[in-house]
Amino acid sequence: MIPQHPPKHLLILFIVLTFFTCCFGSYQQNPFANFHENVHKMISKPAFSSFSKQTRASSSTTSSSKIVLINVDDFGAKANGRDDSEAFKKAWEKACSSKQTAIIIVPKNKIYHLKPLTFSGPCRSDLSFKIYGTIKASLKMRDYEDDRRHWIVFDNVQNLRVKGGGIINGNGRMWWRNSCKINKSKPCKHAPTAVTFIDCKNLIVSNLWFKNAQQMHLTFQNCINVRALNLMVTAPGNSPNTDGIHVTGTQNIRIRNSVIRTGDDCISIVSGSKNVEATDIICGPGHGISIGSLGAGNSGAEVSNVLVNRATFSGTTNGVRIKTWQGGSGYAKNIIFQNLIMKNVSNPIIIDQNYCDQDDPCPEKKSAVQVSNVIYRSIKGTSASEVAMKFDCSESFPCQGILLQDIILGNVEDEPAKASCLNVNLAHRGKVYPQCS
Ligand SMILES: *[C@@H]1O[C@H](CO)[C@@H](O)[C@H](O)[C@H]1NC(C)=O
Ligand SMILES: *[C@@H]1O[C@H](CO)[C@@H](O)[C@H](O)[C@H]1NC(C)=O
Repeated sequence: MIPQHPPKHLLILFIVLTFFTCCFGSYQQNPFANFHENVHKMISKPAFSSFSKQTRASSSTTSSSKIVLINVDDFGAKANGRDDSEAFKKAWEKACSSKQTAIIIVPKNKIYHLKPLTFSGPCRSDLSFKIYGTIKASLKMRDYEDDRRHWIVFDNVQNLRVKGGGIINGNGRMWWRNSCKINKSKPCKHAPTAVTFIDCKNLIVSNLWFKNAQQMHLTFQNCINVRALNLMVTAPGNSPNTDGIHVTGTQNIRIRNSVIRTGDDCISIVSGSKNVEATDIICGPGHGISIGSLGAGNSGAEVSNVLVNRATFSGTTNGVRIKTWQGGSGYAKNIIFQNLIMKNVSNPIIIDQNYCDQDDPCPEKKSAVQVSNVIYRSIKGTSASEVAMKFDCSESFPCQGILLQDIILGNVEDEPAKASCLNVNLAHRGKVYPQCS
């Protein structure tokens, strides 16, 4: 749910996160002691280390050369409830064509309204987009006629930072009301993702509050080297398809220190994603952290090297989930879920290879996305349902190399918890409860 008294700044978020980070300190252990050592290497080197060097280098050069400040108000933005899109467009054009590093400023204590807008690169130099105030989506349905899938898009931009402590509000209520998931007599149509980054390289998105997206809040699509840090993402628990952070076709992405409370997946990771790390995440309400769905419509999918480390799930429908449709192909492999706390989560641990999110039943099929090398380590807490751990794997492509280590999951009603295991090749280490019967 949206906080009753939304914080004016993200200050509270940072207090929460500082606490969260501090109190998980004792939790740390060597997370990569065994066969997933290579995952760590791939995630931490070399892509990220060169990225850090690069960002450090670019900030040190900018401090000695001139920085151009570009305030949207100087381009005609009024923040008076009318549309400010033209001003933002002009400000972007100016910044993107600047020879020096440019900083676009969206002033604080003001609310700017935007129609669907694409900020396109490539730009001549590095750019920062500092959102101190609030950006709100247009409520006119006809503004979205050309493209119902996107509201704000950053396309093909390198070395971009988007930050500032402000709010990006998708004004989603109108879209949720019209969703076929809310009102069955409405046709199923797409709604816009609030903010999409496409084909971006060396991107930092930090210190922002994304709220009430029309559909997904934040998507990284075909990007390379991404950091998403200190984000707050909120929408009501019953808002349809409002994923927090969606990762597709993206390599080398770190999501850290973020609070995500929405009506769908807190984080969803789909095909083409590789080297994905999510650390210090607070999730719920929502559907948990998902890899997938993969393989819909007999498609091929490839996801590898995913680390979810230190996360708390409260009242979510899933904790950590891998979901694939029957009939797909490809793989989801080298995945670590560790140091997780579950609080009244319906399916704390789940692999579902019979995922079927449609009205018609899904027919039995031979092929499947292969799930392999998945570690679940140090996972504690309570399940809202009887089955705390569920492996519903494909008969023709059983789940391979699944390791359970130090897991204690109880039922929230103090009933014994159960595990359900189908077509899965499991190994145990340390204490594991419940176990397959
Ligand atoms: C659902 O949609 C139908 C058709 O647009 C509309 O007549 C009806 O009032 C809607 N129901 C609710 C509860 O909004
Ligand atoms: C657990 O979650 C369910 C809904 O999934 C809710 O009805 C119940 O009250 C919750 N229990 C506790 C102890 O929070």
